[in-house]
Amino acid sequence: MKIGILGTGGMAAALGGAWTAAGHDVAIGGRHQGRAEQTANRIGAARHGSLAYAASHGDVILVAVPAAEAPQVVGSLAGNLTRRTVIDCTNPVVPTTDGLMLTTGGSTSTARQLAAAAPDAYVVKAFNLCHMSIWTLRPPTFEGIPLAVPYCADHPEASGATETLISSIGCRPARCGGLARAAYLEATAALAIGLWWAGEQPRTAFPSIAETSPH
Ligand SMILES: NC(=O)c1ccc[n+]([C@@H]2O[C@H](COP(=O)([O-])OP(=O)(O)OC[C@H]3O[C@@H](n4cnc5c(N)ncnc54)[C@H](OP(=O)(O)O)[C@@H]3O)[C@@H](O)[C@H]2O)c1
Repeated sequence: MKIGILGTGGMAAALGGAWTAAGHDVAIGGRHQGRAEQTANRIGAARHGSLAYAASHGDVILVAVPAAEAPQVVGSLAGNLTRRTVIDCTNPVVPTTDGLMLTTGGSTSTARQLAAAAPDAYVVKAFNLCHMSIWTLRPPTFEGIPLAVPYCADHPEASGATETLISSIGCRPARCGGLARAAYLEATAALAIGLWWAGEQPRTAFPSIAETSPH
């Protein structure tokens, strides 16, 4: 699959590296072309260039810039994103004295802001729950179980492309409904990151339902 990545930082390198290793055709796009080249070279991606270059290269576009910048970045590229799957991995969070808070207030999401900024794009929320280091595992498997990657999407075509990308790196797609529910994924990230920072293991808070005794 052709993937364009907007951003040259940690998430661009981690997910771009995983997709490159899985055989996808990845282009790294940045506002500073030198950084795009550096990141592409580091992960072995064949292509790099401007943000517009990456947007026009990808059948799927990953938005890997800060949440506060993402609507403007995506809006400026809207003409390149018609009927493209645009995956939003951003987390709109800020630290406060009471832990991480959502800058969106939780009633909307960055994903919906991106959909408003590029109305003809097929926006998906995915890959926002795990720290970037997880995507460097080949494959990300825990206790023998492939990592589940929750995602929210409205368009069947975008859901299909997202599932392909998730499966291709050895993970399991977990559909969580339409883009209206992306705010829940963003809020989940705010809680989970806060727990990590507090030294907890958030995954231990989500065990399976216990098997009940018939007696
Ligand atoms: N780090 C994680 O573990 C993690 C996990 C899940 C989700 N996320 C989300 O992923 C996104 C990227 O995080 P990251 O850790 O990769 O951040 P990062 O390493 O700081 O990289 C951010 C990238 O965004 C670019 N950028 C910033 N403002 C921009 C603008 N106005 N226009 C164009 N490019 C701009 C930066 O370009 P320059 O180098 O030119 O400044 C850089 O390439 C964030 O939204 C974050 O919430 C991160």
